[in-house]
Order: sequence, then C-alpha cells, then structure tokens
Amino acid sequence: GVVHLADYRAPAWRVEQVELEFDLDISATRVLARLHLRRGAGAAQPLRLDGAGQELHAIRLDGRALEPHEYQLDAQSLTVFAVDDGAVLETEAGLAPDANSALSGLYLSGSAGAGFLLTQCEAEGFRRITWYPDRPDVLARFRVLLRADRQRFPVLLANGNPAGSGELEDGRHWAAWDDPHPKPSYLFALVAGRLEQIEQDYTTADGRAVKLRIFAEADAIDRCGYAMDALVRAMRWDEQRYGRNYDLDVFHIVATHDFNMGAMENKGLNIFNAKYLLADPQRSSDEDYAHVEAIVAHEYFHNWTGNRVTCRDWFQLSLKEGLTVYREQQFSAEMNSATLKRIEDVQVLRRAQFTEDAGPLAHAVRPERYSAIDNFYTATVYDKGAELVRMIAGRLGETAWRRGMDEYFRRHDGEAATVEQFLAALGDANGVDLSAYLAWYAQAGTPQLQARGTYDAAARRYRLDLRQRTAPTPGQARKQALPIPLRVALLGADGRALPLRREAGAAPQDECVVELDAASRCFEFVDIDAPRVASLLRGFSAPVQLSTDQGADDLAFLLRFESDGFNRWEAAQQLARRAFERVLGGAQNVPELDIWCDTLAGLFDDAALDPALLAELLTPPELNELAQPCTPLDPAAVFAARERLEQALAQRLGAALEQRHAALLKTERGGLDGAARGRRRLLNRCLRLWLRQDPAQAQEIAATRYVLAASMSERLAALAGLLADGAESGEKALQDFERRYDNDPVTLDKWFALQATIPRPDTVERVAGLLRHARFSLRNPNRVSALLMGFAARNPLAFHRPDGAGYVLIEQALAEIDSLNPTTAARLATALKDWARLEPGRRALLQAALQRLAAGARSQDLADILRRTLGDS
Ligand code: ARG
Ligand code: ZN
Repeated sequence: GVVHLADYRAPAWRVEQVELEFDLDISATRVLARLHLRRGAGAAQPLRLDGAGQELHAIRLDGRALEPHEYQLDAQSLTVFAVDDGAVLETEAGLAPDANSALSGLYLSGSAGAGFLLTQCEAEGFRRITWYPDRPDVLARFRVLLRADRQRFPVLLANGNPAGSGELEDGRHWAAWDDPHPKPSYLFALVAGRLEQIEQDYTTADGRAVKLRIFAEADAIDRCGYAMDALVRAMRWDEQRYGRNYDLDVFHIVATHDFNMGAMENKGLNIFNAKYLLADPQRSSDEDYAHVEAIVAHEYFHNWTGNRVTCRDWFQLSLKEGLTVYREQQFSAEMNSATLKRIEDVQVLRRAQFTEDAGPLAHAVRPERYSAIDNFYTATVYDKGAELVRMIAGRLGETAWRRGMDEYFRRHDGEAATVEQFLAALGDANGVDLSAYLAWYAQAGTPQLQARGTYDAAARRYRLDLRQRTAPTPGQARKQALPIPLRVALLGADGRALPLRREAGAAPQDECVVELDAASRCFEFVDIDAPRVASLLRGFSAPVQLSTDQGADDLAFLLRFESDGFNRWEAAQQLARRAFERVLGGAQNVPELDIWCDTLAGLFDDAALDPALLAELLTPPELNELAQPCTPLDPAAVFAARERLEQALAQRLGAALEQRHAALLKTERGGLDGAARGRRRLLNRCLRLWLRQDPAQAQEIAATRYVLAASMSERLAALAGLLADGAESGEKALQDFERRYDNDPVTLDKWFALQATIPRPDTVERVAGLLRHARFSLRNPNRVSALLMGFAARNPLAFHRPDGAGYVLIEQALAEIDSLNPTTAARLATALKDWARLEPGRRALLQAALQRLAAGARSQDLADILRRTLGDS
C-alpha cells in the first residue's frame, strides 16, 4: 500500500518499556517480547502491531494466555482486541536466521558453521523479529537478555550498557543489556558469535569514562585500528564543534561482510559493512581510508542527529540523514583538504543526485508518498538533503548555526521531530524565519539558474541578472521559485577580487552573498572598476545547475586566477563540458578544447598548486555526468567524445607527463598524510594520461608499477589503466591480484569491480563469466554491487552495448536477486532508470527488458522501482 505524509496520525498505543529475551540459534531462534503498553492519542482502538515472517508460539496479556478469538494474526500484523492502558503483552516468536537472505531483521553473516548472528532493523526490519509498533515515533526503554551456546556464541551484544552475564546449564550462557535512552525499534540491534575485539578508553568532555570496542572476525580484527582512530577524532570533534558528548558507558562497532547498506547507527552498537570499516596500507586505497573515516564519523554523529533526536515518520528521513551527512562533510573537510572535500561532495551530488532528480525516480528530499520506504535511502534524501542543511547553515553563519543547533537539541532531545520543527528551532534561536526553505524539502528537481552580467563603465555599476526555473518531475508538474543563495565575487584584470558594495558608502567586501528569492531578479554592485570576470556560485553555494553567458576565455581566466579552489575546479569542468559538447556535435575544430588543454598545460608545472587539486583539474567530468544533458543518448558516442578530450590533453601535455610521473615516483609516497595521498593522486592521473600519449612505453611502466606499487591506490590505478588498454600484462596482473587476495572478501571485491568497469564491449562476456566464478554469489550485496552495479552503473560503454546483451545479463540477475534480497534488487534496478533517454534502438531493448522484469517482480521494493521507472505510477 501507498503511505502518505498527509495521513500521519500520532500512535494509538505507545510502549513504555520492552523486555526482549532471545534464545539464539542459527536456524531456530526464540524471541520472547514483553511490551508495557500505554494508550496513546485518540479514542480507544485495538492494539495493532507490525510483524512479518515469524511464527507465533505463545501470546499472553497480563499473564493470561489469549484465546484465538481475542486476537487476529495475518502476514503483516497482530491485532489484540481488548487491551487496557498499562497492560503487559507477551509474545513468543520463532525465527530462522539462516533462511533470512533479505538481510533485514535477524540474520546470519557467513556460513552456518563459522558465521555470526546480527540484525538490521532500519527502516522496517524489527517487525521481522517480533510484533511491535514498528514506527519511529514510538520510543521505548529496551532491556535485552541474550542466551546462547557459549562455544558457538562467545560474544553476546545488544544496545546500551552491559547489565550482567553468567553461565547456564548445558554449556549455555547469558548476557543482559540495558539501554537507558528511550528509542524507536529501528535502532535496536544484537550481535552474537565468535568475534575478536580491539578496545580503547575514552573520556568525554563532560567526564564520562567510555570503553570503545570494535568487533570483527579473527581474520579482520587487525584491520580495525584506523576506524578506532577515526572514531576517537569524531567523538572529540562533536564535543568541540557541537557540544555533543557521548551518553553510554560503552560504544561498540561490529564489522560484517553481509550487509545491505554502508553502516547502521544502532544505539551504542553500530554495525558496519566491512568495506567501510577495515583499512590497512597494503590492501586499502586512499579512497577506502576516506570512506572509513567519513562513515565511522557519520554513524557516530547519528547518536545525536538521529538517535537522541529521531524522526517522527519516514518522510522525515532527511531530518537525520541530510543533517548527519552535512556534519560528516564538515568533519572530513576539517580533517583533510576542505577544497578537495567540497569537490568530491559536488561530484557525488552531480553523478548520483542530479541524475536522479532529472529522471523518472525524481522525488523530493521530503517525499509526500511512498510504497516501499527502503527505496528512499537515496542520493536525494542524503546528499541533496545535506546541501539544504549547508545552505541553511550558510544563511545563518557559523555562530548562529551553532546557536540554532543547540536550540534544536534543547527542544527535541528524546523526541521524534519533523523538518518544520528543525527549521523552527534554528530560526527561533536567531530571530529569523527560515520557513521559505521548506519549499526546498518539498519540491523535486534541480533548479536551473541562469546568470547574466553587464557592466556599465560610465556609471561604474555591475548588474547581475538571475533567473531560475525547475523542470516538471513525475507527479509534480508545477514548480515554485526557491530561495537560492549565490556567493559572488568579481575579479579584476589582475585576477584579484574587486571590492563589492551593494550601495554607495557601504563597507566593501571581497565576496557577497545575494539571495534570489523569486523567479528572477537583478542585483547591482556600485563603484566597480572594470571587472574582468564574475565568479558565481562560489563553493557551490546552492544545489543548482548554473548557466552563464561567460565565454571560454572567461572560464580559462577563472581557471588560472580564481582563489576559491572549488570554483577554479568548476571552471575547468565547465570548459571541458563545452569542449565535449562541441566534439559530440561533430565539430572538427574545437577552440574550447584547445583552450582547455592550453590552460591546463600552463598550470601543469605550477609548483605552488596542490598536486591533488591538479589531478582533479586534469580530469574531465565522468561519463554519466557528461551524458546527462544528452537526448537522445548514444552512450558509445559520449564515450568516444570523452576519449577525444583525454587524448587531446595527453597529447598537449606530451613528454611532461612522463617527466612528472618520474619525478613523483622519486617522492615519499608511502604515508597516509594528505601530502602523500595528493602525490599519489597526481601520479596515478599522470600515468593514465601517459598511457594515452605513449601506450607502448607507459604500459611497460604500468606493469612495473602494478608490481612495485607503494600502496593499493597505485596498484589499482596501474591495473585499471592496463585493462582499459587491453594490454596482455593487464590479464597477468589480474591473475596475480586474484591469487593475492583470494581469501579477503573486501579486496576481492575490487577485483570483481575492476573487471566489471573495463570500458570495452566484450566486458559483457567477461561479467557473464564472473557470475559463474566460485567466489561470486548473488546472495552477497557487496559482490553484487562490485560486479553488477559496477557494470550497470559505471560502465556505460559495455552495459549499453547496442545488441542489448548487457541489458539481458542484468535482467536475468535481477530476477534472481529479487527472490533473495529485495533491497539489493531494487538498488541494482535503479541503474536502468534512464532508458527513455536512450536512442531508439537501445531504448526499445531496455524498455522490453524492464517490462519483462516488471511483469515478474515478486518484491514490493523491486516492483516499486520498476513501476516508477516505466512511468506507470
Ligand atoms: N541509517 C543508515 C545510515 O546511516 C542507513 C540505513 C539504511 N537502511 C535501509 N533499509 N535502507 O545511513
Ligand atoms: Zn545515516
């Protein structure tokens, strides 16, 4: 059924306290739940609890076994008819964790003989464990008792503080857990099995002694040190930047290879996909380290933004996710290079969110309806949501933002809140009205912002005309104007920022923020001397698509002189995009391409330029980004045009590539510090360009680099380069990689992903072969993501092969995954969303595959994605 935001009603029944007793077993687990009930809002109603898949073994109300006519049980719920305020309901359920391939609820990670048991409850997994009002606005105190065989399950964990443990008969033992903070059911977790641990003491700023522990299986425990380090830094940062202290005596993290998502912020017991927790210098790339740092921080920050203040309903998901992603981005920016971090955030936004916003799955940051909430853990809710928080924080300024957040926590600690309440707390604390930003939460689609500048030399005035428009999205035909903050600077002929004044006599500033609060407006700056170029949307001050009347030489000027690092990079991106469009249009002579290459060549030897930034400047937008405005879309033509850009740049840089590569090889690159990472990034970028400029020589070097790599980042870059070239040495290196990492799932996933993304048509056959590889399994989400998501979402050339073989491959896999793991099937299916934009031949093939899939879809999750994708919602 479809759920509507407008239909929200406060819960008819609340749970004051819940006691859970688990008798854990791989194939037959027993769950006793004791719910202390309180009548909630509205007139007396029967007690309706959510439940799915478990068997009911017993049901008692206030100690008395219920007769069959006193309750009703169906596939989604348990209803008890006559319940008094203050009653205690007990149910006993039977579960089969080893049969739970959906990885939602209680399930088995690894093999029955050696694996461990764990839970994933967000959003609606708790109902697969026991009958409960499984909605985020029911907050209860949880007490948990775990019983299990001591040999098989030596470690027994749940949320909150430990509350005793001991021996039982027959080799069994027990552990009790008590969480003093009332929480919704989606934050419940338990873990049981043979796990190793590392431990560190931490004292919070307000004086609480906390044991930090990370648990992993024996072969992974020595790779948890970096995550612990990141955790400690995140805890300190939240104390310093937001005044938020941790609030339990223990904080536990557990790593698993079997997980649908990145990680989960269960109270006091975070559970992580191993690929975002494990890190070591031999096996992890620089990107992996950055992910671990960011996601450890993200889940920890949820303790306040998500757990202490949670969401009233799932429409408010971005209240916790957008806000927490923003906090995570702030943290990562302060731990690393803020400019690079901003570039990466905007890349993610454009690649994942802008494409989502422009297609059939477009939805608002706070949607108005859903039929499968699992399908709304999206780039829009997370990443656009973070951009909205960033705009609001920027609008308030640093001090007011902190004051507003303090007020938000003060008002709503221990509550389930809404986006309106968030905006009200931030605004009230500062005497400003932020309600205009609510429209950003309600409206889907990326605003197109058009900017035009004119200079009146006689009057010494600069006029900026701004105009916004948002295209219709499914279910939202009419769009309104949104408040758009635009950071602006005017650069003079020497590249320096000119003093800006909105009116005569005002104090001048190097940079101004103008807010477009209507469909169009013009802004004037006075007493301006001869501006050379305007720098607009500095730091990407709003999640919009900007178009300007600036020429290629204006962009080249910005690329040379702009002091805002983000906009400097953006100028390079814009230039590359214009060159790309001309090349794609069939132009032989492309002045934009020459200007792009020449300007970058001019910067290439600039010793003052951060190597990591230079590497990014030298990289044109990726294929999916370039493909976005193309209709009808021919992915092979997009690929060829981007190749021409890379070729041209490589030729223009010429021998300088080899020289820079050789010079970088002589530098110290082993460390994890930002400088070493930056040098590695540039080294890898030079190698990739050099492979285009002088394939024979560069391939030989790349083969050596694969063997002698100082880090995984170097090893991966060398291997990917060789594979893209179809070099024989690439195949040999692949075999070596497999031998080295055969027993390490996280690293072996890189091996699958590397092959899935080889930009060659015959990758379809390669992927088909890998589906039959002994180490491949459709049951493991990381494997599916590495091989199939890598192929369908990041390899347009192969996936969109004109004969449709790529579509058939994904279609067949999807049908199978659908019956195992709906969440994973639905996510993979989103890679098919752009079918309608394809040129007619591919379009017909992909549409047919989608229709066949829709006809056979079993899960609600997959059916929902396919229905919306095909546009019959
Ligand atoms: N809350 C988790 C996070 O921090 C993600 C959980 C996603 N769960 C799901 N069923 N989609 O991002
Ligand atoms: Zn989150």
